[in-house]
Amino acid sequence: MTPESHAPTGTDRPRLDPPPGCPAHGLGPGGLHRLHESEDLGALYEKLREEHGPVAPVLLHDDVPIWIVLGHTENLHMVRSPSQFCRDSRIWTPLQEGLVKPDHPLMPHIAWQPIASHAEGDEHKRLRGAVMGAISTIDFRSLRRYINRSTQVIVNRFCERGEADLVGQFTEHLPMAVMCEILGMPDEYNDRLVECARDALKGTETAIASHTYVMETLSRLTARRRAQPEEDLASYLITHPARLTDDEVREHLRLVLFAAYEATTNLLSNVLLTVLIDPRFRAQLNGGQMTVPEAVEQSLWNEPPFSTVFAYFAKQETELGGQRIRRGDGLLFAPLPANVDPRVRPDLKASMQGNRSHLAFGGGPHECPGQDIGRSIADVGVDALLLRLPDVELDCDQDELRWTASIASRHLVELPVQFAPKPPQDVSETPHHKAVPAQRSDWQISISQSDPKPAAPAAAQPQPQPQPQPQPEPVLVQPQPVPVPPPPAAGEPVRRKGAWQRFLLWWRGY
Ligand code: HEM
Repeated sequence: MTPESHAPTGTDRPRLDPPPGCPAHGLGPGGLHRLHESEDLGALYEKLREEHGPVAPVLLHDDVPIWIVLGHTENLHMVRSPSQFCRDSRIWTPLQEGLVKPDHPLMPHIAWQPIASHAEGDEHKRLRGAVMGAISTIDFRSLRRYINRSTQVIVNRFCERGEADLVGQFTEHLPMAVMCEILGMPDEYNDRLVECARDALKGTETAIASHTYVMETLSRLTARRRAQPEEDLASYLITHPARLTDDEVREHLRLVLFAAYEATTNLLSNVLLTVLIDPRFRAQLNGGQMTVPEAVEQSLWNEPPFSTVFAYFAKQETELGGQRIRRGDGLLFAPLPANVDPRVRPDLKASMQGNRSHLAFGGGPHECPGQDIGRSIADVGVDALLLRLPDVELDCDQDELRWTASIASRHLVELPVQFAPKPPQDVSETPHHKAVPAQRSDWQISISQSDPKPAAPAAAQPQPQPQPQPQPEPVLVQPQPVPVPPPPAAGEPVRRKGAWQRFLLWWRGY
């Protein structure tokens, strides 16, 4: 995937733009809208839908023409029709005709690279096959435990203060901690790596140096695992029968790390924000009418982490959404307007519970292969955070919240919250479970799969809440010998756990 950087315009070149408020503002040659000059892309997409229907002509930086696909059906048709549309920018007419200059701000995403997102046909199968093969070795039970434990570690850093910025201190950290473990470099996870990934994606002046730091880290990992494979994603990429070169391994580690980091950070921030500001959402979660995974899915509908993806290209002359598309035309795949297409969502307030046909993860041959990882990080991370900070509240007015927006995504800058200070949790302790709670209090929501309700409360007194205390262990596992528990010491009574406790231990993987 090649999402655009966060730089709003990405260029320092002087422009003779009309002043804001002027009717010509945001319009380029032919009266077409310049996407990168829009202050409210959501509103612009609706205007375009009204004016042009499900596919509209627009302009990118330097007035480079492109189509934006607004309709749900049309987006789906495009990504599912590899005979008509591909991800190979080398056939893009404006690039071939020199309209896209080498210093175009979107060049990092436009320039063709030998990675799965840009490849087609057999080459795509080879590269994607290696990524999918490596992802398929992940044991999701261990992964969820690791996400839970990482959440506890991250929350420990600020829980005693009674206040935090959940973006800077939580949502930008959890995906990086988890991805470093999955990739095979848990020791490389630190503030600097998070800082560099964020900086590289923002397209600031230091972006190149930050990007280099991340790439050097990935090169060292590739070299280590080439010499000595272990049980992690980097090793499985290297040893996959597709025989990836070191460069290909490193580029796919980069693709996976950045895609996962940016999208999952946005998803976590969006879900937490909705939970904090939308009383209906909060009430439904507290009342048990909605689980955290359902809340995550609703957020994927309303605010897909990538609002557009650059880009698909027409391999032949065709028609899409009533527009004549020429061979070599570029088209932006656009989950944001597609997910609110009135033809699939006539009432935007209506719940989409149980409906996963949003386009947040794309579709067709390039559909996101990491979606279950992204969903797991969001489900477990949000659930575990709310269990630790049940009284968390937004610590500013909603209209004080700041966003950075680009054509590719919208990113919450800060999410200030307050809560009663809490003691840190011991994450080194071996896992054990306290009594199952008799009833839930506010925020005591849990992901549906891991939280079946107890048959009946044991006593009228509320029981202490069980604290999730997962055990650190690698996420990628091969079958291993099961350790035999030591026999009980002489004289020690052998206590058999209750059926419910045994079920919980089994379910949570302890
Ligand atoms: C909430 C989290 C995520 C979202 C919303 C997301 C979204 C997307 C989207 C929209 C695409 C492009 C689909 C297309 O071109 O039609 C994509 C591709 C991709 N994603 Fe994700 N992603 C997420 C997490 C992840 C994670 C965790 C990984 C890896 C572990 C990952 C790896 C990839 C890769 C390798 C591709 C390129 C696939 C190909 O071109 O064949 N993504 N993702």
